[in-house]
Amino acid sequence: TCSRSLQKNGSETPEPVTAQVNGSIPSWLQGTLVRNGPGLFSVGDSEYNHWFDGMSLLHSFTFSNGEVTYRSKFLKSNTYKRNIKANKIVVSEFGTMVYPDPCKNIFSRISTHLSNIIPDFTDNNLINIVRYGDDYYASSEVNYMNKIDPATLETVGRINYRSHIALNLATAHPHYDSEGNTYNIGTVFMGLGTPKYIIFKVPADASDKEHNKPALRKVQQIGSIPFRSLLFPSYFHSFGMTENYIVFVEQPFKLDIVKLATAYFRGANWGNCLKFDKDDITLFHVINKKTGKAISTRFYADNMVVFHHINAYETNEHVVFDLISYTDSNLYNMFYIKNIKQETSSFIQSNKTFSPPSCQRFVLPLNTDKESPKGTNLVSLTDTSAKAVMQEDGSVYCQPDTLFVGLELPGINYHFNAKKYRYFYGFRLEWSPHPNKIAKFDIVTRKHIEWHQENCYPSEPVFVASPGAVEEDDGVILSSVVSPDPNISPFMLVLNAKTMEEMARASIPVSVHIDLHGLFIPAKP
Ligand SMILES: [Fe+2]
Repeated sequence: TCSRSLQKNGSETPEPVTAQVNGSIPSWLQGTLVRNGPGLFSVGDSEYNHWFDGMSLLHSFTFSNGEVTYRSKFLKSNTYKRNIKANKIVVSEFGTMVYPDPCKNIFSRISTHLSNIIPDFTDNNLINIVRYGDDYYASSEVNYMNKIDPATLETVGRINYRSHIALNLATAHPHYDSEGNTYNIGTVFMGLGTPKYIIFKVPADASDKEHNKPALRKVQQIGSIPFRSLLFPSYFHSFGMTENYIVFVEQPFKLDIVKLATAYFRGANWGNCLKFDKDDITLFHVINKKTGKAISTRFYADNMVVFHHINAYETNEHVVFDLISYTDSNLYNMFYIKNIKQETSSFIQSNKTFSPPSCQRFVLPLNTDKESPKGTNLVSLTDTSAKAVMQEDGSVYCQPDTLFVGLELPGINYHFNAKKYRYFYGFRLEWSPHPNKIAKFDIVTRKHIEWHQENCYPSEPVFVASPGAVEEDDGVILSSVVSPDPNISPFMLVLNAKTMEEMARASIPVSVHIDLHGLFIPAKP
């Protein structure tokens, strides 16, 4: 089964190799898809406990004149260098806490504990590729990122957010507006002043390549949101953006700060310091991108766990946002290596209770005030069943419109980000975490179409618009596909986004690992 290849150590292909193309790749498709994900799960005799702990392995698919070249390199983070040098895992990850040699004396252990209270997190940035100005980074969700050269996949150097803006965490899913400015949200929870969520922006033209200065030095804080509960900030993995607003979901899936600060001493890992508070609600914050001011209406919904937003937009005095939610927090636990290693049948058995990812639409009416009629639905859009009901105390209770169930790692035509849109793409995730279909969902007809091939496991689908595209789905879907079948070599799949039919596949003559997220960087004309 494919679960066995999930935790297999990947290998580098530092020199580009040419793929064998079957079918026809459109000649307008020029650029590089750079992707990130865990690729090394053991060093020497030591192993990570969790799949999301694996050391970052970057890979890229370069499209040029109908041809595809592939390369891959481990991110040369400090974490990577220290682990390789020691020939064992010496840097803690979220699911794996590492302790110094037990023969060290008690004083050194206490001082090590103190330095672990404010976690100096790992720079193993394995989640995504993000852009600030003209700078590209491998990113996870901590204060360190590693700058990369997207053409060669070389690690260029490490940057600390804190040298430019005080934060402990920031998402690996920033948003970009049509001018190229980057928006992101971070969390300040320890050692850096008042705990809060901060929204920040890096201007498109902030890079200074000539003097090798990072774009991040021009970071602007747009606004901040206080934690609703001081010691329990929400975990968040992404957010929504409309033309005028940032949509932030303060979910009851929370970081326990006291547990986090004592984790090292208690012998627990940081991943165990996340807790889902089923008895709590979810709060929605809508913040003006220009003024940093939050809309004062208190919008809330039932408890949920969210990782990925799909898209958000404004229409007729409403903010509409789509996200993928769960009714429990089991997803992280499913990816412990000991769970992945189980036989497929027992894996299915032990994950039967897994709540499926549900693509949901929430709608927030912006023109509410204290005079709005209580107990009635204030959503006046006709194309959704989402509700927002004014309560006696003036807060607004939101109920979602469920668009689709069983899809994760969503992607859209990013030209339609922050705009009213019709299609999203993703892979089907049903009872097993090993998806093998890519789907396109039509929000208007509420129907979906799929691509699949037996024994093949596609990655997150990435949409690239064709030049001069008129319709939203004029373009291609790119996905890297692996198979446990030795007769099927890994390939880059190119689908017609309109029909989800295969246009081409580029077979890669070397091993390709299963990854998480990535970014398509168009070739400079
Ligand atoms: Fe993600």
